[in-house]
Amino acid sequence: MEYDLNAIVTPFVTSYIREKTVQTDDILRGLERYAEENNIPVAKPETARLLSVLTKLARPERVLEVGCAIGYSAITMAKGMGADGKIITLEHDANMVRLARENIEKAGLKDIINVVEADAKDYLSYIDEDEIFDMIFLDGPKAHYLYMLDDAVRLLKKGGLLVSDNILFKGMTADDGHFARRKVTIINRLREYIDALMKHPQLETSILSQGDGITLSVKTMSDFERFGY
Ligand SMILES: C[S@@+](CC[C@H](N)C(=O)[O-])C[C@H]1O[C@@H](n2cnc3c(N)ncnc32)[C@H](O)[C@@H]1O
Repeated sequence: MEYDLNAIVTPFVTSYIREKTVQTDDILRGLERYAEENNIPVAKPETARLLSVLTKLARPERVLEVGCAIGYSAITMAKGMGADGKIITLEHDANMVRLARENIEKAGLKDIINVVEADAKDYLSYIDEDEIFDMIFLDGPKAHYLYMLDDAVRLLKKGGLLVSDNILFKGMTADDGHFARRKVTIINRLREYIDALMKHPQLETSILSQGDGITLSVKTMSDFERFGY
């Protein structure tokens, strides 16, 4: 089977959505162009718009991002947060960290976004629960989402939102047996991750075919926590 690397739904639907999702912010438009010219994987425009809407809706005070790249999604989220908001974004590539910090400074958001140069899995395992987050965006190594899930749930406040990107991986996650053989590990891990999300006792998850596939998971509360009885 041939995969359209830009569309997991019908290509003309994707084109239509992209055509309508006009980026009006100059800095973000510049970063989209830079990412395209330099082959840096950043969130698709429609995914960035979803992140922006979700941030404005959920009004998180503290956000954790795994996978910063040049800071495009972090800047997108920061623009939807209040002046007291804080984003910690993890990135292990020193060059990306440098570019992200420059871009964040140019965007005037250095008091909101803290780029931490670290391996995400290691970093997550040593943040303690005092540092709880209202929203977590997983957009780092796709094959490692599964191994970050326990820490992500532990660090998410009740009622908080876990967003995981590229979950359908160009459609291959959903196409039983027809994916490129060299992608077998990543696809199997993403499938296991989706299964883990869907049956997780503390999460309620919706799978969207937006962009490259995205899951939205809410950390649920018990009836006692919601109603006090
Ligand atoms: C898809 S890009 C992130 C794009 C960014 N969220 C955006 O939309 O603007 C994934 C990033 O994760 C980083 N990454 C991969 N493995 C990592 C790890 N183990 N720890 C921290 N960062 C990692 C990569 O260097 C890359 O910059």
